[in-house]
Amino acid sequence: MGKLDGKVAFITGVARGQGRSHALALAEEGADIIGVDICAQVDTVNYPMSTPDDLAETVKLVEDRGRRIIARLGDVRDLVLLRDVVAEGVADLGRLDIVLANAGIMTHGLDPADRSVQAWDDGIGVILTGTWNTLQATVPALVEGGRGGSIVITSSSAGIKAGWTDTHGGFDSYIAAKFAVVGLMRAYAGRLAEHSIRVNTVHPTGVATPMVVNEFFSAYMQRYPHIAGRSQNALPVPVIEPIDISRAVLYLVSDDGRYVTGTTHVVDAGMTSVAS
Ligand SMILES: NC(=O)c1ccc[n+]([C@@H]2O[C@H](COP(=O)([O-])OP(=O)(O)OC[C@H]3O[C@@H](n4cnc5c(N)ncnc54)[C@H](O)[C@@H]3O)[C@@H](O)[C@H]2O)c1
Repeated sequence: MGKLDGKVAFITGVARGQGRSHALALAEEGADIIGVDICAQVDTVNYPMSTPDDLAETVKLVEDRGRRIIARLGDVRDLVLLRDVVAEGVADLGRLDIVLANAGIMTHGLDPADRSVQAWDDGIGVILTGTWNTLQATVPALVEGGRGGSIVITSSSAGIKAGWTDTHGGFDSYIAAKFAVVGLMRAYAGRLAEHSIRVNTVHPTGVATPMVVNEFFSAYMQRYPHIAGRSQNALPVPVIEPIDISRAVLYLVSDDGRYVTGTTHVVDAGMTSVAS
């Protein structure tokens, strides 16, 4: 018997990285999945984003685990599309219990003058507006279901600790949006408590996904050693794995976390609280 037998989860950014890992972890506990991913390049992102092949691989891996998945191409900045995907998924899979607002981008730039305003807009659009859109598209189905539910928004260690920035709009947008989603989380935790719908954020330190394991990110950290210096973990691990975040998400969305709401759940190897 799984911890999530009979439940349905909606996940954004499901094609690869943490989103795929969460889909597989939840499927292994019995959940069916509704997923969306842009699977295309955002202009101001300086590392390769996911592809339709990545999304197809997530579909295969969920189905290999004996679970159903409805996966669609789509941008979290498009509220109409998100509503359509949620409606299709709920019609096919019968219900909605869990929401993971996980999609995100880094629009950091090496050159301060390079598309800095556009990078700010794209970062805020995907991370902050995308999270708000995800809430708008899913909360009505959770409330109408009448069975409670759990929402986890992926913030970052950058949504807890921000001691420096470069002079490019991309990094500013990442920090601002990752702090801002904590405000959304608290507001929705309060609003939805009477429906037994819990809302929390998760705050990973560096995770070994294509977002940070790429040539651009290595060059960026060399260019901005202040940021690299402030991003060290206290525990002797340079980066953690997607499954480390999936285990935290599983705790938050299952009955193990049934009275946990309104919290900032940090999984950071001591980065924000212990490391200097
Ligand atoms: N990797 C890290 O070190 C790290 C650390 C802390 C927080 N995070 C956050 O974790 C989350 C997952 O990132 P990841 O590490 O798996 O990176 P990733 O780049 O491997 O995965 C992100 C996924 O989100 C999708 N996505 C991006 N923009 C989208 C949009 N507009 N609409 C729909 N889908 C979109 C991408 O296509 C990709 O499949 C992000 O919110 C990220 O900011 C990452």
